[in-house]
Amino acid sequence: MKYSIKDERLAEKGEHLLKWAEDHMPVLMSIKKRFGSEKPLNGIQIVACLHVTKETGVLVRTLMAGGADVALTASNPLSTQDEVAAALVKDGANVFAWKGQTKEEYYDCIKKALAFEPQITMDDGADVVTELHSGGYKKLRVIGGTEETTTGVVRLKAMAAKGVLKYPIIAVNNAETKWDFDNIYGTGQSTIDGILRATNVLLAGKTFVIAGYGHCGKGLANRARGMGAHVVVTEVDPMKALKAAMDGFEVMQMRQAAKVGDIFVTATGNKNVLTKEHAAVMKDGAVLANTGHFNVEVDVKGIIESAKGRLKMRDYVEELTLVNGNRVYVLADGRLVNLAAAEGHPSEVMDMSFANQALAAEYIFNNAKKLEPTVYDVPKEIDSHIAKLKLETMGIKIDKMTKEQEEYVKGWSEGTE
Ligand code: ADE
Repeated sequence: MKYSIKDERLAEKGEHLLKWAEDHMPVLMSIKKRFGSEKPLNGIQIVACLHVTKETGVLVRTLMAGGADVALTASNPLSTQDEVAAALVKDGANVFAWKGQTKEEYYDCIKKALAFEPQITMDDGADVVTELHSGGYKKLRVIGGTEETTTGVVRLKAMAAKGVLKYPIIAVNNAETKWDFDNIYGTGQSTIDGILRATNVLLAGKTFVIAGYGHCGKGLANRARGMGAHVVVTEVDPMKALKAAMDGFEVMQMRQAAKVGDIFVTATGNKNVLTKEHAAVMKDGAVLANTGHFNVEVDVKGIIESAKGRLKMRDYVEELTLVNGNRVYVLADGRLVNLAAAEGHPSEVMDMSFANQALAAEYIFNNAKKLEPTVYDVPKEIDSHIAKLKLETMGIKIDKMTKEQEEYVKGWSEGTE
């Protein structure tokens, strides 16, 4: 089967969404233009497991302009924009994704995409690499892959450390032009967007509890503060906790935060961060959401089991009445709230993330023979090139060091004058 999507008739709407994204992704569009004339990925089969959004659509078009064939599957059962999936099928991509997949359908789609036998894989969460390493795929022709997110990089580094990773991976997530923007500003804005679209609650004056103060938690904390919320951070890492405290946020243990919070968001990359024990001491009406990659951060199943009543209040909002009579509201089944209830990160930040993806694919193709089966950072030249291009498209000019200054920063002999 060549594709499996919700409805091909949505293609025209998808085209409009893609056009909107293209207009807001100038760096990726300049790469698309070059790929169109140079065809650096000619004849390469790419299997991408990414959130099927309008921004991913622009990436897929860029890869196809470069000569690649693309099979696309979703990296989350709730994140697919069905209109975009339809438009991409019309373009000739093999898309296996629709919004609202079951777990079985989700993995089935990954398997269908993998039947195209990729030479390059693109992951957001490492589900494709994991599936390819599961033993069912004997003759791999993969020359390399890329990984979009922190959770995926952690999984892949664990595989490399154990010596089981079979091919090189470029950690797109770890490029400065990715995580200093996408993870911070993208997650910050889109998580709030998801919570607001789902609930329309007022943030001003609320106590907004964020579990995890990595790049994503930090971005979210700043945006929540900007909307007038009182932000509380919980952490397990002393360094991050210290940073949160000195950035002016209140830091405490979750068992304390559970009693005072109005809105809770997990951004940890870990599991069972919010549990039924926490829910049991929460205020009536507390809102629980997750913005980490997997749906294991909030123990939704445990909280449901401990509840005496369950009601779908509105799209992406489930009311759970606890035995003490208090109600908690779980958003998007504990899946990524920004992609399930909203549209994910804005195009402007995905512009840099996906420029890294496109250039990393080209780099893998050109350097496959030199690469070992381990996890690599995006080469510095690519990262800096993207930063320069982004600044240019924003019309921002920066200074250049004089010859004298260049010598000065390289030298060691000049000190106090
Ligand atoms: N991850 C977060 N936001 C995204 C988006 N808009 N498109 C693809 N992946 C994303």
